[in-house]
Amino acid sequence: MTNGIEAAWAAIMALAGAPRPDGSAASSIRPLFAADSQRFGRFSHGAEGLLVDLSKTAIDDRALAALLDLARAVDLEGRRAAMAAGAAVNETEGRAVLHMALRAPRDAGYRAGAEDASAEVHATLDRMRDFVAAVHAEGRFTDVLNIGIGGSDLGPAMAARALWTPAAPMRAHYLANVDAHAWEEIRPRLDPARTLVLVASKTFTTQETMTNARLVRAWLAEHLGEAKVGAHLAALSTNLPATAAFGIAPDRVFPFRDWVGGRFSLWSAIGLSLALALGWDAFARLLAGAHAMDRHFLATPLARNLPVLMALAEIWHVDALGYPTRAVLPYDERLARLPAHLQQVEMESLGKRVTLAGTPAARQTGPVVFGEPGTNAQHSFMQLLHQGTTPVPCDIILVKQPDHAHADSHRKLLANGLAQAEALMRGKSLAEAEAETPGLGVHRVFPGDRPSTTIVLPRLDAYTLGQLVALYEAKVFCLGALWGVNAFDQWGVELGKQLAGAILPELEAGAPTPGAHDASTEGLMRVVLG
Ligand code: F6P
Repeated sequence: MTNGIEAAWAAIMALAGAPRPDGSAASSIRPLFAADSQRFGRFSHGAEGLLVDLSKTAIDDRALAALLDLARAVDLEGRRAAMAAGAAVNETEGRAVLHMALRAPRDAGYRAGAEDASAEVHATLDRMRDFVAAVHAEGRFTDVLNIGIGGSDLGPAMAARALWTPAAPMRAHYLANVDAHAWEEIRPRLDPARTLVLVASKTFTTQETMTNARLVRAWLAEHLGEAKVGAHLAALSTNLPATAAFGIAPDRVFPFRDWVGGRFSLWSAIGLSLALALGWDAFARLLAGAHAMDRHFLATPLARNLPVLMALAEIWHVDALGYPTRAVLPYDERLARLPAHLQQVEMESLGKRVTLAGTPAARQTGPVVFGEPGTNAQHSFMQLLHQGTTPVPCDIILVKQPDHAHADSHRKLLANGLAQAEALMRGKSLAEAEAETPGLGVHRVFPGDRPSTTIVLPRLDAYTLGQLVALYEAKVFCLGALWGVNAFDQWGVELGKQLAGAILPELEAGAPTPGAHDASTEGLMRVVLG
């Protein structure tokens, strides 16, 4: 097995390291279009109205075959089946990984060991739906405040930014940072009498969330009186004893299980702020879109499977060609928070240097992911992407049909997104640049052959957003399998938490403990205390 995997990697690296039979470099893209008039059709793939175009990458038929061999060598299909069957594929935490169950129908039959996961999911969804209906019927609350961080914030905040319109039933606000400036910025927009507060924390121990929850609880008590606070609070958590200790009544706690990772929890009770703000139907459509992508991921052969193909393209970029970063560029202002959400989904999952077997990873794993909406990105960091020393593969996300009537603006937006992908690949030669600006051409050369993947959504709505996010989640699963790392733990966040836990009492005491830290940390503690 390991030999098969290493042989597959060796074949990929050999292709990347040698010219193609026609003499072109393995990293070049332009010759592939010159040689194949059908390339766009052959390397773009659709599923349920969503299109992923991989033709502007340097993957040719031989590279694709080698990448698919790697997928087979790691038994990607077997691992996918194991995840869907509720096996403890999160091996370092001994947990199943069943976020797909969160958006599957009632009769889907997902199980985590002896537990009927589908029944568990739908029991909570039923309670959430009834709660949303009761809140909307009562009409008392105009605003929902979600207090959470990481996966208990980014997914819902991203989706609310994408889908909320003034016609929605409630406004949603997201408080994450322990920096109280965040709370001070939100607070003036809220009327305590009309605000429903959700404390969203899988563990219900996260320092930032519990600190903010106590601040907001005190604000409610100050304005409404202690007796009325409970009716303004609800909790979204796996830790029922801790929610009870915080004083939240059991019928106002919406649970989920430890087989839902924080960064994959948008579809769980963590999505309650969305259901309240957007309405139950929109939340159900979000789940339905994600489920449609899951069906595609689970049933489509590897060579036509969108998340598999996107994962293989990432392997080609990161490992074969040595491009260690990736930019996410949604050409839709409503997707402004998608890069932030994907940063957690991808980097917290794949930022690993040790394999599941406990050995050092033999090659580069998760890339740095960053991004901004287009066209803003063009006036910011795209200079480096066009003319910097190392190519940065881009995901360019286009939405065909806008939800406004300004056709001219939308055409300009699309023109820019299409042009960026074309410019990255096509480049501009020295001869072209010299013809435009004699003597200065060298500064105006664009090397080109820079890869991008274009994703086209028919429109942006709850269903297509669900598809899009589930596409990236499934891609992350595939990459974990391909790199042989656990995409579902996050031990890398723990050391900083431990050290902050040690520094905090020293700051409270007004002085560092002599010799407890390096000289820099001790010196900086004296500066901030001084
Ligand atoms: O940053 C680490 C992390 O555990 C994330 O994985 C998680 O999404 C976030 O903290 C919030 O955790 P919780 O929902 O338990 O408050």
